[in-house]
Amino acid sequence: MKKILDLITDEVTKAFTDCGYDAKYGKVTLSNRPDLCEYQCNGAMAAAKEYKKAPFMIADEVAAKLAEASMFSMTESVKPGFLNLKLDEAFLASYVADMQKDEGRFGCEKAKNPKTIMIDYGGPNVAKPLHVGHLRSAIIGESIKRIGKFAGHKVIGDVHLGDWGLQMGLIITELKLRQPDLVYFDENFEGEYPKEAPFTISELEEIYPTASKKSKEDEAYKEAAMQATYELQNGRKGYQALLSHILNVSVTDLKKNYENLNVSFELWKGESDAQPYIPAMVQKMKDDGFAYVSDGALVVDVKEDTDTKEIPPCMILKSDGASLYNTTDLATIVWREEDYDPDEIIYVVDKRQELHFVQVFRCARKTGLVKPETELKFLGFGTMNGKDGKPFKTRDGGVMRLEYLVSEIDNEMLKKITENQKAKENLGISEEEAKETAKTVALAAIKYGDLSNQASKDYIFDIDRFTSFEGNTGPYILYTIVRIKSILHKYHDLGKSAEGAVITSAHSESEKNLMLEISKFNAVIDGAFADTAPHKICSYIYDLANAFNSFYHETKIMSEEDETVQKSYIRLLELTKSVLETSIDLLGFSAPERM
Ligand code: ARG
Repeated sequence: MKKILDLITDEVTKAFTDCGYDAKYGKVTLSNRPDLCEYQCNGAMAAAKEYKKAPFMIADEVAAKLAEASMFSMTESVKPGFLNLKLDEAFLASYVADMQKDEGRFGCEKAKNPKTIMIDYGGPNVAKPLHVGHLRSAIIGESIKRIGKFAGHKVIGDVHLGDWGLQMGLIITELKLRQPDLVYFDENFEGEYPKEAPFTISELEEIYPTASKKSKEDEAYKEAAMQATYELQNGRKGYQALLSHILNVSVTDLKKNYENLNVSFELWKGESDAQPYIPAMVQKMKDDGFAYVSDGALVVDVKEDTDTKEIPPCMILKSDGASLYNTTDLATIVWREEDYDPDEIIYVVDKRQELHFVQVFRCARKTGLVKPETELKFLGFGTMNGKDGKPFKTRDGGVMRLEYLVSEIDNEMLKKITENQKAKENLGISEEEAKETAKTVALAAIKYGDLSNQASKDYIFDIDRFTSFEGNTGPYILYTIVRIKSILHKYHDLGKSAEGAVITSAHSESEKNLMLEISKFNAVIDGAFADTAPHKICSYIYDLANAFNSFYHETKIMSEEDETVQKSYIRLLELTKSVLETSIDLLGFSAPERM
């Protein structure tokens, strides 16, 4: 289905050419004066220069021509040469009705040439608990993935676990201290290692911080951890068996955590999966003359003439031969190219890591790890701050664990929902349902609170504001959907049905305004995909929810006596609900039945 703006532009362009002017002047935009018109065209102003005529004359001619078109109810030329347009009610209604027929897509066409897009997001570190910093990557990455899939592309999410650093050596060292007799530490062990991990997830979560603390206080301990890391990375069997246990236990737990966030990954690869690709990659960089030794380390120059600030060389190997974060990311590109041949790789990572990605991307291009056409995109997100404007912390100043944050909001939401129930004396909701609902609404509060900001910006995580049922919040959007569901229930409970009915011309300004909002859906989704910008969907559904609520407050839907009119209302409600539900699904959350 064509976008409504394109249909309008086509019509206006035709009017310009019919009047003898160049087609390029027919560009139409949304009105920036919604009090005067719905769409506008400023082409007459630009055409005036070329045709040496007063802009108003041109606008007048075109307006007169357009008056013949059935698409508009108003075509008005305004001095000095604006063209103000309002859509014909019947045209708008039929566009919206066509959207409704296009079930599930509402006028969004699928990409004609689907791309393969890999999204690197989540980025949790194994054995360390998830903290709020990982939340943004998960929320934004998941939404971008869903938008890409909806647009018709093949999108593969990869969690890219941090499973290859010193933290592994630390865990091994601490384990060895506690259980020195485990077979994993016996260098002469020949048999098969046990299938059962020698620790649980809660033990693992305790082992890491303990070890990390010790290593900061005890130099010998740190040495031992570094040695263990080195031996692990150089293939010591017992340590690799331990690594698999650590990974299994961690990943099971991580999956559960991400599931609670309605986030999932196609691939559960990690930094360790890149290791086998490193030796050949490094050798090739040397052979091709890109990598050279500087101060003992192996580096590749990545600075460019146009740089305005210093971009240091990309370090590939440390002087002791150890690989680095750069190396892992580069080797990850190698297997991604080999296994998936992506058109695009998008990294959803804290924007403070930007320099790292500039170096990695340049190095990958320069050394030919990626095809020239492969796009490497860094989507750096800002920091989530507390109300004091500083990075989000627990009350005692520690790093806030994700689970705690989520359960705090769950509780806040449960309180509100229970109060709401009491206020409405609607005691039909069981405690269990209230808890489920609270979780659903809390997730919407968190995700919408995050996604409604442009990703690159820092934002303030304000629990009171995010959980409010009013204003630009997730709960407000859900409340609107629930309201529609409840009207539809009431209608159906009367034994009525609007099946087969079609949306007809609006009967009021507010109804027309609701249709105008709905009709923008496909353009919004396209824009959100093109700009990797979920916040565009947020601001769209906020406008749509507002338009619906104005319509709702001004319209007697249930007591409408004219059957045809009532059926049209019901169909419009169904469409509004579907568009809102599809949108929030793209943002990664859903609505409860009631709240
Ligand atoms: N694990 C990293 C961290 O916690 C994020 C990984 C981001 N992705 C990547 N390909 N480097 O900071």
